[in-house]
Amino acid sequence: MFLKRAVKAVLLIFVMLMIKCLWNSILNDTHNQNTPTVQSEEVAGIPKPFVKMSHISFSEIKDLPLGDPRIIEYLRRYVLIPPSKLPYVFTKEMGSLYKEQVKQMFGTKSNGFFIECGANDGEYLSNTLELEMRGWKGLLIEAQPELGKMLMTKNRKAWFANVCLSPYSNISEIEFAVGRFMNARYKNAIGKLLLPDNSYMGTLYRKYGKVPCFPITTIMAALGVTHVDYLSLDVEGVELKILNTLPFDGTLVIDYIQVEINHVRGGQKAVKRFLESKGYDFLFMHDIDAFYKRRF
Ligand SMILES: *[C@@H]1O[C@H](CO)[C@@H](O)[C@H](O)[C@H]1NC(C)=O
Ligand SMILES: *[C@@H]1O[C@H](CO)[C@@H](O)[C@H](O)[C@H]1NC(C)=O
Repeated sequence: MFLKRAVKAVLLIFVMLMIKCLWNSILNDTHNQNTPTVQSEEVAGIPKPFVKMSHISFSEIKDLPLGDPRIIEYLRRYVLIPPSKLPYVFTKEMGSLYKEQVKQMFGTKSNGFFIECGANDGEYLSNTLELEMRGWKGLLIEAQPELGKMLMTKNRKAWFANVCLSPYSNISEIEFAVGRFMNARYKNAIGKLLLPDNSYMGTLYRKYGKVPCFPITTIMAALGVTHVDYLSLDVEGVELKILNTLPFDGTLVIDYIQVEINHVRGGQKAVKRFLESKGYDFLFMHDIDAFYKRRF
C-alpha cells in the first residue's frame, strides 16, 4: 500500500516536472520571438551582459555608484532601443538647417558615429538623418515622450534613448516642461529641463512631470562606444552643463561638437571659453549654433 502510494507520488512529480519543462520551453520560444535583442552585436559591438537579473527598476539603480554594472545592464535592457531593421517611414518634414556645415565637417564620410541630443521626432530638422542614410551609426536622444513615440515610427537606423542627458554627473529624475505652441507642427515639439537656475517657462511651456536623466558617459559605456565623430546638442539651455559632464580624459573622445547657444547662460562666449580650455577649436557659427573641432 505504502509502496504503491510512493510510486504514485514519484510518478506525479515526474509528470509535473515534464509539464513545467514543456511550459518553460514554450514560454522561452515566445519570449525569444517577441523580445527585440537589445544586445544586437552587429551594431555597436555590445558585449553580452555580465550581470544576470530578472528585473530592475529605475528607483533601484538611480542611487548606485556610476560604475555599477547594474546601471549598464538597466540601460541595455530598458533604455537603449536598437536601430530599426524596417524601411524608413517619413512624412517629408523639413530637413537639417545645418547641411552645409555638416558637409564642411564630414564631406562624404560614410562610417562615423553621431550623438544627436534633442533628436525631436527623428526627421523634422534632423541634423543626423543624412549621415545615417550614408551609413553612419549613432545614438538619438530625446526626452520628450510624445516626440519619442513619433521618432520610433520613422524606423531610424540609430540607437534611441527616450531619456534626457543629465546636466549633472549623476543619474537623476528632473522636472521637465514641454512647449505649447499654437502651430500644430510645433505643439509639444520642444522639451526642456527645469533646473533651479533654468526654470523659466513663460507661456510657451507647460509642466510635464519628471524624466529620468543619465550622464552621457554612462549611456556611451552601455553602448560600448568610446569614439564619437559628431555630437549635436540642442537641449534648450543646459548645453554647457551637459558639456561639463564629459570626461575629456580620453575615455570618450568626441571629434566635432555642435552646440545651440541661444539659451545657454553666458551664450557662445561661455561655451567657447569652456570648450577651448578642453582642447577644442571654434570652427564657425551658423544661425544659433556654434561648431567646434577637437585639436588632433
Ligand atoms: C531558451 O532559448 C535559448 C535561445 O534559443 C536557448 O539557448 C536556451 O537553452 C533555452 N532555454 C530553455 C530552458 O529551453
Ligand atoms: C545630482 O547632482 C546635483 C548637483 O550636484 C544635485 O543637486 C542632485 O541632488 C543630485 N541628484 C541625485 C539624485 O543625487
